[in-house]
Amino acid sequence: MKKIGILTSGGDAPGMNAAIRAVVRTGIYNKAEVMGIKEGYKGLINGYIEEMNLSSVADIIHKGGTILRTARSDEFKTEDGKKKALDMLKKFKIDGLVVIGGDGSLKGAQSLSDLGIPTIGIPGTIDNDLGYTEYTIGFDTAINTVLDAISKIRDTSTSHGRANIIEVMGRNCGDIALHAGLAGGAESIIVPEEGLNIENVCKKLIQGKNRGKLHSIIMLAEGVGKRSPYELGNDIEKNTGIETRVTILGHLQRGGSPTAMDRIIASKMGAKAVGLLLRGAKSRTVGIRENKVIDMDIDEALCIEKVFDHATYNLTKILSI
Ligand code: F6P
Repeated sequence: MKKIGILTSGGDAPGMNAAIRAVVRTGIYNKAEVMGIKEGYKGLINGYIEEMNLSSVADIIHKGGTILRTARSDEFKTEDGKKKALDMLKKFKIDGLVVIGGDGSLKGAQSLSDLGIPTIGIPGTIDNDLGYTEYTIGFDTAINTVLDAISKIRDTSTSHGRANIIEVMGRNCGDIALHAGLAGGAESIIVPEEGLNIENVCKKLIQGKNRGKLHSIIMLAEGVGKRSPYELGNDIEKNTGIETRVTILGHLQRGGSPTAMDRIIASKMGAKAVGLLLRGAKSRTVGIRENKVIDMDIDEALCIEKVFDHATYNLTKILSI
């Protein structure tokens, strides 16, 4: 393996830079050239490719976003797009690729490895929605960002005696809502995996009010049903008489300096990905299982369904009575 390409794809996630740094430095340490592919698969198709050196990744471990930038490419999903990507890899003599991203990005990695390019995936998404790995890069930073927001909203919620709905990201996965909600002591957590039971949410708010509670935090994962958080807020206010406000945290959850945990895991995963390529692996993705960095066949990994942590969800119900 002489030349390794690296790209980030899909939604960015804090810690991606730490992973890029680890790939570049481990590659160079092992006498490989490392080529940075800008703007994900779109940049691969268009040849936005340049050599990286030790200094290209200096002073980035603490930075959010991705220095390689990212994109969601519809063209890459077509046969023609994939062929163009393959031709570009050949043109630049890239003989192994590392892809950092979520579900869609790893599917892309799988298709390139099917076309004969040894490819290694690294899970990078704030959503933590991949079944084969217990952890995705960016999740810890995102839940800490949400936690900070919960604490601030709680202050004003208490002052006014209000309920606050906080909508968080996660696509179809409730992990951000669940874990930030547990850490933030939320009164209710509404996630796609459990659905919305508005009667229960209202009952809890009224019980809380009756025993003198001055605030209520309701975590709402974005993937729940079709009702907007504002409609939900109106319904809650109507049913409980408790003034209700809504905060949609949106893309602020995707930014910020990565936590120590994200930097450490990203560094280990980046080094592991390069090690796999150097040992001749063809189609693997790295992950975390039982606190260890593991690797798995990409096809196999993508067939593993994400299992929601119902036990933790039940715990949040007990702790918020
Ligand atoms: O997958 C990461 C994520 O932030 C999801 O939580 C969210 O649904 C989506 O990306 C938003 O995508 P975009 O930044 O393209 O609007």
